[in-house]
Amino acid sequence: FLLPDLARPEDLAGRTAVVIDVLRATTTIAHALAAGAKAVVPCGEVEQARQVARRLGADALLAGERGGLPIPGFDLGNSPAEFTAQRVEGKTIVFTTTNGTRALLRCAGAECVLLAAFVNFSAVCTELAGCDKVAIVCAGTDGQVTREDVLLAGAIVDDLVGPHPPLSGNATGSDRPIAAAHKAERPAWRLNDQAEIAVDAWRTAVRLLTDRPLGMALRASQGGRNLIEIGQENDIDLAAQIDRFDLVPRYDPASGLVVRV
Ligand code: MLT
Repeated sequence: FLLPDLARPEDLAGRTAVVIDVLRATTTIAHALAAGAKAVVPCGEVEQARQVARRLGADALLAGERGGLPIPGFDLGNSPAEFTAQRVEGKTIVFTTTNGTRALLRCAGAECVLLAAFVNFSAVCTELAGCDKVAIVCAGTDGQVTREDVLLAGAIVDDLVGPHPPLSGNATGSDRPIAAAHKAERPAWRLNDQAEIAVDAWRTAVRLLTDRPLGMALRASQGGRNLIEIGQENDIDLAAQIDRFDLVPRYDPASGLVVRV
């Protein structure tokens, strides 16, 4: 689903949902958990986040953005670089962003909700190898489809349906191949048109990426342009680090927590 609004409740029920907000919410959550944060609590609204943090007390850190910028009074913004072990280890991050956390909350009716970014691409693909019903949900930006999320959705679809030639360091900006060798047995996938569009976009981009690192493609996206405008271009390079982390954040709607699996 290229936007959260395109995923109806019946599209999510009984499926593993994979929520994507490459720039930057799902990338940032992966950084937070990799740096030792205990959990992330996604909140739709700023005031709700403040209340949750008050209830949690000293263990909680407030984080997130509006318009890409840190929210007044919050401990952290939405830059992955801020989520160091020094700042977040052992803490519960109460997190609200404009599009990413809302997309996540919208998927609460799915059987299982995973969070994907390029930084944990192969870990997500490995987790999905055992699933036969998947709903990939792109956060987009303010109701608009965004290229960075569609590219990752396409990369995941490509990995699910394979086979494809392994991607090399030249193609991805990483010196590790990004396709895991976990898919000898594949279910016969039936894709909706949005998945077909995403995988077409990814395969086209991969050809171009032979000469240009992924960060260049992400710069030429809505989310990339937004970050450049607010002076946070460095975060694009952090978001383009394929397979930096071997973890998958999972959202449990019953507890309201995102934890690593
Ligand atoms: C969002 O959730 O809208 C994004 O993560 C925005 C951002 O890059 O800060």
